[in-house]
Amino acid sequence: MAKVSVIGAGNVGATCVNAMLHLNFCSDIVLLDIRQGFAEGKAMDMMQTSKIYQFNTRLVGVTNDYKATANSDVVIVTSGMPRKPGMTREELIGVNAKIVSDVTANVLKYSPNCIFEIIANPMDPMTYLTLKKNKLSKHRVVGMGGLLDTSRFTYYLSRALDVPVSDIEGMVIGGHGDKTMIPLIRMATYKGIPITSLLTNDECNKVVADTMIGGATLTKLIGTSAWYAPGVSAATMAKSIIQDDRKMFPCCCYLEGEYDQKDICIGVPAILGKDGWEKVIEFDLNAEEKKLFAASADATRSTAKILYDQKLI
Ligand code: APR
Repeated sequence: MAKVSVIGAGNVGATCVNAMLHLNFCSDIVLLDIRQGFAEGKAMDMMQTSKIYQFNTRLVGVTNDYKATANSDVVIVTSGMPRKPGMTREELIGVNAKIVSDVTANVLKYSPNCIFEIIANPMDPMTYLTLKKNKLSKHRVVGMGGLLDTSRFTYYLSRALDVPVSDIEGMVIGGHGDKTMIPLIRMATYKGIPITSLLTNDECNKVVADTMIGGATLTKLIGTSAWYAPGVSAATMAKSIIQDDRKMFPCCCYLEGEYDQKDICIGVPAILGKDGWEKVIEFDLNAEEKKLFAASADATRSTAKILYDQKLI
Protein backbone atom coordinates (compact mmCIF):
# COMPACT_ATOMS: atom_id res chain seq x y z
CA MET A 1 0.00 0.00 0.00
CA ALA A 2 1.29 3.41 -0.91
CA LYS A 3 -0.52 6.61 -0.12
CA VAL A 4 0.20 10.04 -1.54
CA SER A 5 -1.66 13.22 -0.62
CA VAL A 6 -1.64 16.32 -2.75
CA ILE A 7 -2.46 19.64 -1.13
CA GLY A 8 -3.96 22.13 -3.55
CA ALA A 9 -6.31 20.89 -6.28
CA GLY A 10 -5.54 23.72 -8.69
CA ASN A 11 -3.76 23.41 -12.00
CA VAL A 12 -0.54 21.83 -10.74
CA GLY A 13 -2.08 19.68 -7.99
CA ALA A 14 -4.79 18.17 -10.16
CA THR A 15 -2.39 17.57 -13.05
CA CYS A 16 0.04 15.88 -10.68
CA VAL A 17 -2.72 13.57 -9.43
CA ASN A 18 -3.74 12.79 -13.00
CA ALA A 19 -0.13 11.91 -13.85
CA MET A 20 0.15 9.69 -10.76
CA LEU A 21 -2.99 7.82 -11.76
CA HIS A 22 -1.49 7.16 -15.18
CA LEU A 23 1.88 6.17 -13.73
CA ASN A 24 -0.08 3.77 -11.52
CA PHE A 25 2.16 3.44 -8.46
CA CYS A 26 -0.18 4.40 -5.59
CA SER A 27 -2.94 2.42 -3.92
CA ASP A 28 -4.44 5.63 -2.46
CA ILE A 29 -4.34 9.29 -3.36
CA VAL A 30 -6.00 12.11 -1.43
CA LEU A 31 -6.47 15.50 -3.07
CA LEU A 32 -7.15 18.32 -0.61
CA ASP A 33 -8.10 21.94 -1.23
CA ILE A 34 -9.42 24.79 0.87
CA ARG A 35 -12.13 25.65 -1.69
CA GLN A 36 -15.40 23.90 -0.83
CA GLY A 37 -16.08 20.97 -3.16
CA PHE A 38 -13.23 21.80 -5.54
CA ALA A 39 -11.00 18.79 -4.82
CA GLU A 40 -14.04 16.51 -4.60
CA GLY A 41 -15.09 17.57 -8.09
CA LYS A 42 -11.62 17.21 -9.62
CA ALA A 43 -11.19 13.77 -8.01
CA MET A 44 -14.58 12.59 -9.22
CA ASP A 45 -13.85 13.70 -12.77
CA MET A 46 -10.50 11.88 -12.77
CA MET A 47 -11.97 8.70 -11.25
CA GLN A 48 -14.47 8.66 -14.07
CA THR A 49 -11.53 8.03 -16.42
CA SER A 50 -10.46 4.92 -14.46
CA LYS A 51 -12.28 2.37 -16.59
CA ILE A 52 -10.94 3.87 -19.78
CA TYR A 53 -7.37 4.15 -18.54
CA GLN A 54 -7.63 0.94 -16.48
CA PHE A 55 -6.24 2.15 -13.16
CA ASN A 56 -7.49 0.96 -9.77
CA THR A 57 -6.01 3.64 -7.52
CA ARG A 58 -8.46 4.90 -4.89
CA LEU A 59 -8.64 8.68 -5.20
CA VAL A 60 -10.68 10.92 -2.95
CA GLY A 61 -11.03 14.67 -2.93
CA VAL A 62 -11.62 16.53 0.35
CA THR A 63 -12.17 20.09 1.56
CA ASN A 64 -9.59 20.89 4.23
CA ASP A 65 -10.09 17.49 5.89
CA TYR A 66 -6.56 16.58 6.97
CA LYS A 67 -7.77 13.44 8.72
CA ALA A 68 -8.32 11.93 5.28
CA THR A 69 -4.61 12.42 4.52
CA ALA A 70 -3.57 10.32 7.56
CA ASN A 71 -0.59 8.00 7.15
CA SER A 72 0.47 9.37 3.80
CA ASP A 73 3.90 8.23 2.65
CA VAL A 74 4.43 11.31 0.50
CA VAL A 75 2.66 14.68 0.67
CA ILE A 76 2.98 17.03 -2.29
CA VAL A 77 2.38 20.69 -1.47
CA THR A 78 1.07 22.72 -4.40
CA SER A 79 -1.19 25.03 -2.39
CA GLY A 80 -0.24 28.61 -3.06
CA MET A 81 -0.66 31.49 -5.43
CA PRO A 82 0.63 30.99 -8.97
CA ARG A 83 2.53 33.64 -10.93
CA LYS A 84 0.80 36.32 -12.97
CA PRO A 85 2.48 37.57 -16.17
CA GLY A 86 5.53 39.71 -15.36
CA MET A 87 5.82 38.39 -11.80
CA THR A 88 8.86 36.52 -10.50
CA ARG A 89 8.49 33.40 -8.36
CA GLU A 90 10.18 35.31 -5.53
CA GLU A 91 7.34 37.86 -5.33
CA LEU A 92 5.01 35.15 -4.04
CA ILE A 93 6.98 34.60 -0.85
CA GLY A 94 4.83 36.39 1.75
CA VAL A 95 1.47 34.93 0.86
CA ASN A 96 2.72 31.44 0.04
CA ALA A 97 4.89 31.15 3.17
CA LYS A 98 1.78 31.49 5.33
CA ILE A 99 -0.10 28.89 3.32
CA VAL A 100 2.82 26.43 3.29
CA SER A 101 3.42 26.81 7.06
CA ASP A 102 -0.21 26.22 7.81
CA VAL A 103 -0.63 23.29 5.46
CA THR A 104 2.52 21.42 6.47
CA ALA A 105 1.70 21.76 10.19
CA ASN A 106 -1.76 20.32 9.52
CA VAL A 107 -0.37 17.45 7.45
CA LEU A 108 2.10 16.47 10.19
CA LYS A 109 -0.70 16.01 12.73
CA TYR A 110 -1.88 12.99 10.76
CA SER A 111 1.23 11.88 8.82
CA PRO A 112 4.12 12.53 11.21
CA ASN A 113 6.49 10.41 9.14
CA CYS A 114 5.64 11.59 5.65
CA ILE A 115 8.08 12.84 3.07
CA PHE A 116 7.23 16.32 1.80
CA GLU A 117 7.60 17.31 -1.80
CA ILE A 118 7.29 21.09 -2.09
CA ILE A 119 6.14 22.80 -5.27
CA ALA A 120 4.60 26.11 -4.16
CA ASN A 121 6.78 29.04 -5.22
CA PRO A 122 9.27 30.45 -4.53
CA MET A 123 10.03 26.78 -4.18
CA ASP A 124 13.56 26.85 -2.70
CA PRO A 125 12.60 29.10 0.25
CA MET A 126 9.32 27.17 0.70
CA THR A 127 11.34 23.95 1.00
CA TYR A 128 13.64 25.63 3.53
CA LEU A 129 10.63 26.94 5.45
CA THR A 130 8.99 23.49 5.61
CA LEU A 131 12.18 21.94 6.93
CA LYS A 132 13.03 24.60 9.51
CA LYS A 133 9.58 25.49 10.76
CA ASN A 134 8.60 21.87 11.34
CA LYS A 135 12.08 20.81 12.53
CA LEU A 136 12.17 17.81 10.20
CA SER A 137 15.05 15.60 9.18
CA LYS A 138 16.59 17.10 6.04
CA HIS A 139 16.04 13.92 4.02
CA ARG A 140 12.28 14.16 4.41
CA VAL A 141 11.86 17.48 2.62
CA VAL A 142 12.54 17.79 -1.08
CA GLY A 143 11.58 20.54 -3.48
CA MET A 144 10.50 20.10 -7.10
CA GLY A 145 11.93 22.58 -9.56
CA GLY A 146 15.08 21.13 -11.11
CA LEU A 147 13.30 18.26 -12.82
CA LEU A 148 10.84 20.67 -14.42
CA ASP A 149 13.66 22.97 -15.55
CA THR A 150 15.58 19.94 -16.80
CA SER A 151 12.61 18.73 -18.73
CA ARG A 152 12.36 22.14 -20.42
CA PHE A 153 16.12 22.14 -21.06
CA THR A 154 16.14 18.71 -22.72
CA TYR A 155 13.07 19.65 -24.77
CA TYR A 156 14.76 22.81 -26.10
CA LEU A 157 17.93 20.81 -26.82
CA SER A 158 15.97 18.23 -28.78
CA ARG A 159 14.35 21.00 -30.85
CA ALA A 160 17.70 22.68 -31.53
CA LEU A 161 19.20 19.37 -32.69
CA ASP A 162 16.00 18.06 -34.30
CA VAL A 163 16.34 14.70 -32.53
CA PRO A 164 14.03 12.78 -30.16
CA VAL A 165 14.15 14.11 -26.61
CA SER A 166 14.55 10.52 -25.32
CA ASP A 167 18.06 10.54 -26.82
CA ILE A 168 19.06 13.64 -24.84
CA GLU A 169 20.53 13.76 -21.33
CA GLY A 170 20.97 16.97 -19.39
CA MET A 171 20.45 18.56 -16.02
CA VAL A 172 19.59 21.93 -14.52
CA ILE A 173 20.87 22.70 -11.03
CA GLY A 174 20.85 25.78 -8.78
CA GLY A 175 17.88 27.83 -7.68
CA HIS A 176 14.46 27.46 -9.30
CA GLY A 177 14.36 31.05 -10.51
CA ASP A 178 14.57 32.66 -13.94
CA LYS A 179 17.98 34.10 -13.07
CA THR A 180 19.26 31.48 -10.62
CA MET A 181 18.91 28.17 -12.46
CA ILE A 182 21.98 26.69 -14.14
CA PRO A 183 21.39 24.54 -17.22
CA LEU A 184 24.58 22.45 -17.34
CA ILE A 185 25.14 22.71 -21.09
CA ARG A 186 28.74 21.40 -20.88
CA MET A 187 27.46 18.08 -19.49
CA ALA A 188 24.44 17.69 -21.79
CA THR A 189 24.71 14.87 -24.31
CA TYR A 190 23.02 13.41 -27.35
CA LYS A 191 23.50 9.65 -26.99
CA GLY A 192 26.78 10.26 -25.16
CA ILE A 193 28.04 12.92 -27.60
CA PRO A 194 28.60 16.31 -25.93
CA ILE A 195 25.98 18.76 -27.13
CA THR A 196 28.59 21.52 -27.18
CA SER A 197 30.26 19.69 -30.06
CA LEU A 198 26.99 19.55 -32.02
CA LEU A 199 25.61 23.08 -31.56
CA THR A 200 27.33 26.43 -32.04
CA ASN A 201 28.00 28.65 -29.04
CA ASP A 202 25.10 30.89 -30.04
CA GLU A 203 22.76 27.91 -30.33
CA CYS A 204 23.86 26.63 -26.91
CA ASN A 205 23.36 30.08 -25.38
CA LYS A 206 19.88 30.31 -26.87
CA VAL A 207 18.86 26.93 -25.41
CA VAL A 208 20.17 28.01 -22.00
CA ALA A 209 18.35 31.36 -22.20
CA ASP A 210 15.09 29.75 -23.37
CA THR A 211 15.28 27.26 -20.50
CA MET A 212 15.83 29.96 -17.92
CA ILE A 213 12.79 31.94 -19.02
CA GLY A 214 10.81 28.77 -19.79
CA GLY A 215 8.30 29.34 -16.98
CA ALA A 216 7.96 33.08 -17.60
CA THR A 217 7.35 32.48 -21.33
CA LEU A 218 4.45 30.17 -20.49
CA THR A 219 3.04 32.52 -17.85
CA LYS A 220 2.99 35.29 -20.45
CA LEU A 221 1.16 33.06 -22.93
CA ILE A 222 -1.32 31.41 -20.55
CA GLY A 223 -1.84 34.22 -18.03
CA THR A 224 -0.88 32.02 -15.06
CA SER A 225 1.93 29.60 -14.34
CA ALA A 226 2.28 26.28 -16.15
CA TRP A 227 0.92 22.94 -14.92
CA TYR A 228 1.49 19.99 -17.27
CA ALA A 229 5.28 19.77 -16.93
CA PRO A 230 5.26 20.78 -13.23
CA GLY A 231 2.54 18.20 -12.48
CA VAL A 232 4.21 15.26 -14.17
CA SER A 233 7.63 16.22 -12.76
CA ALA A 234 6.19 16.10 -9.24
CA ALA A 235 4.51 12.76 -9.95
CA THR A 236 7.77 11.29 -11.30
CA MET A 237 9.68 12.25 -8.17
CA ALA A 238 6.95 10.78 -5.94
CA LYS A 239 7.15 7.54 -7.93
CA SER A 240 10.87 7.19 -7.28
CA ILE A 241 10.23 7.68 -3.56
CA ILE A 242 7.25 5.33 -3.30
CA GLN A 243 8.89 2.57 -5.36
CA ASP A 244 12.30 3.13 -3.78
CA ASP A 245 13.69 3.42 -7.32
CA ARG A 246 16.69 5.43 -6.13
CA LYS A 247 16.75 7.44 -9.34
CA MET A 248 18.83 10.57 -9.67
CA PHE A 249 16.95 13.81 -10.20
CA PRO A 250 17.86 17.44 -9.69
CA CYS A 251 16.03 18.17 -6.42
CA CYS A 252 15.92 21.01 -3.96
CA CYS A 253 17.78 19.66 -0.89
CA TYR A 254 19.19 21.12 2.32
CA LEU A 255 22.96 21.36 1.95
CA GLU A 256 25.49 20.95 4.72
CA GLY A 257 28.75 21.42 2.86
CA GLU A 258 27.90 19.84 -0.49
CA TYR A 259 28.79 22.12 -3.40
CA ASP A 260 30.52 24.34 -0.79
CA GLN A 261 27.17 25.50 0.59
CA LYS A 262 25.59 25.33 4.02
CA ASP A 263 22.19 26.14 5.52
CA ILE A 264 20.41 26.47 2.20
CA CYS A 265 17.82 24.55 0.17
CA ILE A 266 18.80 24.60 -3.50
CA GLY A 267 18.70 22.35 -6.57
CA VAL A 268 21.35 19.64 -6.78
CA PRO A 269 21.44 16.12 -8.23
CA ALA A 270 20.15 13.71 -5.58
CA ILE A 271 19.01 10.12 -5.21
CA LEU A 272 15.32 9.73 -4.40
CA GLY A 273 14.17 6.62 -2.55
CA LYS A 274 11.91 5.42 0.24
CA ASP A 275 13.46 7.65 2.90
CA GLY A 276 13.27 10.80 0.78
CA TRP A 277 16.41 12.22 -0.74
CA GLU A 278 19.16 9.79 0.16
CA LYS A 279 22.30 11.58 -0.92
CA VAL A 280 23.48 14.49 -3.00
CA ILE A 281 25.64 13.62 -5.99
CA GLU A 282 28.49 16.06 -6.44
CA PHE A 283 29.21 16.76 -10.10
CA ASP A 284 32.70 17.82 -11.04
CA LEU A 285 31.82 21.44 -11.86
CA ASN A 286 34.39 23.59 -13.64
CA ALA A 287 35.41 27.03 -12.35
CA GLU A 288 32.71 28.88 -14.31
CA GLU A 289 29.94 26.50 -13.17
CA LYS A 290 31.15 26.76 -9.56
CA LYS A 291 30.94 30.53 -9.83
CA LEU A 292 27.42 30.32 -11.22
CA PHE A 293 26.40 27.95 -8.43
CA ALA A 294 27.83 30.23 -5.75
CA ALA A 295 25.96 33.23 -7.25
CA SER A 296 22.75 31.20 -7.48
CA ALA A 297 23.15 30.18 -3.83
CA ASP A 298 23.68 33.82 -2.79
CA ALA A 299 20.48 34.89 -4.56
CA THR A 300 18.50 31.94 -3.19
CA ARG A 301 19.78 32.61 0.31
CA SER A 302 18.81 36.28 0.13
CA THR A 303 15.23 35.31 -0.83
CA ALA A 304 15.11 32.80 2.03
CA LYS A 305 16.32 35.57 4.35
CA ILE A 306 13.01 37.36 3.77
CA LEU A 307 11.43 34.52 5.74
CA TYR A 308 13.48 35.51 8.78
CA ASP A 309 13.11 39.26 8.16
CA GLN A 310 9.32 38.96 7.99
CA LYS A 311 9.29 36.52 10.92
CA LEU A 312 7.75 33.82 8.77
CA ILE A 313 10.05 31.16 10.25
N1 APR B 1 -5.02 24.92 1.84
C1 APR B 1 -5.36 24.15 0.81
N2 APR B 1 -5.40 24.59 -0.47
C2 APR B 1 -5.12 25.88 -0.68
C3 APR B 1 -4.75 26.76 0.37
C4 APR B 1 -4.71 26.22 1.68
N3 APR B 1 -4.38 26.96 2.73
N4 APR B 1 -4.51 27.97 -0.15
C5 APR B 1 -4.71 27.86 -1.48
N5 APR B 1 -5.08 26.60 -1.80
C6 APR B 1 -5.42 26.05 -3.11
C7 APR B 1 -6.28 26.99 -3.93
O1 APR B 1 -7.65 26.92 -3.54
C8 APR B 1 -6.04 26.45 -5.35
O2 APR B 1 -7.02 25.50 -5.74
O3 APR B 1 -4.24 25.87 -3.90
C9 APR B 1 -4.66 25.80 -5.26
C10 APR B 1 -3.63 26.47 -6.13
O4 APR B 1 -3.99 26.24 -7.44
P1 APR B 1 -3.81 27.29 -8.61
O5 APR B 1 -4.28 28.62 -8.17
O6 APR B 1 -4.40 26.69 -9.85
O7 APR B 1 -2.22 27.38 -8.75
P2 APR B 1 -1.25 26.35 -9.51
O8 APR B 1 -1.06 26.79 -10.91
O9 APR B 1 -1.70 24.98 -9.24
O10 APR B 1 0.12 26.64 -8.76
C11 APR B 1 0.30 26.25 -7.42
O11 APR B 1 2.64 25.79 -7.69
O12 APR B 1 4.00 26.06 -9.54
C12 APR B 1 3.60 26.61 -8.33
O13 APR B 1 3.83 28.99 -8.65
C13 APR B 1 2.92 27.94 -8.51
O14 APR B 1 2.87 28.57 -6.18
C14 APR B 1 2.10 28.05 -7.25
C15 APR B 1 1.72 26.59 -6.97
